[in-house]
Amino acid sequence: MSKLSVRRISKAYSNGDEEEVRVLDDISFDVKEKEFLSILGPSGCGKTTLLKIIAGLMEPDSGTVLIDDKEEGMGHNRVALIFQQESLFPWLIVRKNIEFGLDIQGMEVEKRRKLVDDMIELVGIKGLEDNFPHEISGGQARKTEMARSLVTSPDVLASDEGFSNLDAQTRNHLQEEFLRVWNETGSTILFVTHNVDEAVFMSDRILVLSNIPATIIAEYEIDLPRPRIRASSESREFRAKILDVLRVEQEKALQL
Ligand SMILES: Nc1ncnc2c1ncn2[C@@H]1O[C@H](COP(=O)(O)OP(=O)(O)O)[C@@H](O)[C@H]1O
Ligand SMILES: [Mg+2]
Repeated sequence: MSKLSVRRISKAYSNGDEEEVRVLDDISFDVKEKEFLSILGPSGCGKTTLLKIIAGLMEPDSGTVLIDDKEEGMGHNRVALIFQQESLFPWLIVRKNIEFGLDIQGMEVEKRRKLVDDMIELVGIKGLEDNFPHEISGGQARKTEMARSLVTSPDVLASDEGFSNLDAQTRNHLQEEFLRVWNETGSTILFVTHNVDEAVFMSDRILVLSNIPATIIAEYEIDLPRPRIRASSESREFRAKILDVLRVEQEKALQL
């Protein structure tokens, strides 16, 4: 289990001749060992950009990412990222999709098979191993992605709005399953979402980002016992506070 430290990350995109767009402005935070940290922010504020930098898929303009106090740059594989869009290979069956990363690492067949079986069991998709992605439901696909991410034993598991395109019932189920898996694996979680209910239900702590250029404008320690009750008055209080912060942020954007 690992801790993640993000130190003074800034990033701008340049769009050809036009002025550059500053997206991330001096972002710093830590995710403690085994902590479940969520990042909430308005659409387009730079959440995906931030995750890509943390996962070593993109270079920041300045700042550093440290895992267990070791600086990590482009191409490191210590953070597994569950993407916003479905990202399973359509031409591979479920088992092969999960096995893919291990295959690349060159792990021997027997060991690989055992690990993949364990993951299939853990995320609860037993019986679907030989199906192609188009033969399983959206929720099952997300579980397959969860298994594919966890099978490589990442130091940090990150999700980029992983549950956003699902119906409410499937989303609730996946949230509970994700928490169960987190409990069993003790992973360090960085969870990006724009869904306030989801963040309050799942997180130990929530960071709220501003519009671009994104900075951290609020932080909430969600010190409610688990398993949580979605409709509890304490949960509602947290939701109301966070929605207020986001509403003020949205109004600022509309006045620009
Ligand atoms: N490759 C890119 N080139 C130029 N601008 C980009 C690129 N990727 C994202 N952006 C812009 O950067 C901002 C942040 O994008 P993103 O990180 O995807 O935000 P979020 O995930 O919070 O919706 C947006 O305004 C977006 O249009
Ligand atoms: Mg995004």
